[in-house]
Amino acid sequence: MSKIAIFASGSGSNFQALIDAAADKQLKTEIVLLVCDKPEAKAVERAEQSGIPTFVFSPKNYETKEAFEEEIVQNLREKEVDFVILAGYMRLIGSTLLKAYEGKIVNIHPSLLPAFPGKDAVGQALAAGVKVSGVTIHYVDEGMDTGPIIAQEAVTVTEEDTHESLQAKIQAVEHRLYPKTINKILTTKCYS
Ligand code: GAR
Repeated sequence: MSKIAIFASGSGSNFQALIDAAADKQLKTEIVLLVCDKPEAKAVERAEQSGIPTFVFSPKNYETKEAFEEEIVQNLREKEVDFVILAGYMRLIGSTLLKAYEGKIVNIHPSLLPAFPGKDAVGQALAAGVKVSGVTIHYVDEGMDTGPIIAQEAVTVTEEDTHESLQAKIQAVEHRLYPKTINKILTTKCYS
């Protein structure tokens, strides 16, 4: 069975959805590591509760991105990670990680890319007044939320939607679409 590492910076609700899907055997992979750049993130608690090993670091303790990414790669190799899943990891992936896991890093983003890349995609969609937003899952390259698109699903935006309600609708889609899409990628081995 393939082994994956999840990268998260915040609440980790997508991480939790992946833990649950793996426990249910809907997601046929083993989550062997959480990588987190925020020691206080709830994602770290979730890993501990599920017995998933963590590599938690503070970027400010390193001189360069290359330095902390080298340590991340070392941790990934030690755990024999095949595939890297970004789930709310709010940091651009640098060349050290991209080279080590070329074509094997996937991200989820709360909009229909290429619309609304970067931070607060939900707020950007509301400010633009769009009637449809959604979720994108894509391979990661050196850009900000760029890279080949793997899956997308639309979410309707209504007049009544607030930031909170739209985020909740989008996250409900994320929690269903991410495990399903990762499973497809891993079982068809189209990444290798
Ligand atoms: C998710 O909605 C994810 O799509 C987004 O961060 C949220 C993390 O939530 N990612 C990005 O905006 C990446 N550019 P979570 O920590 O509850 O899974």
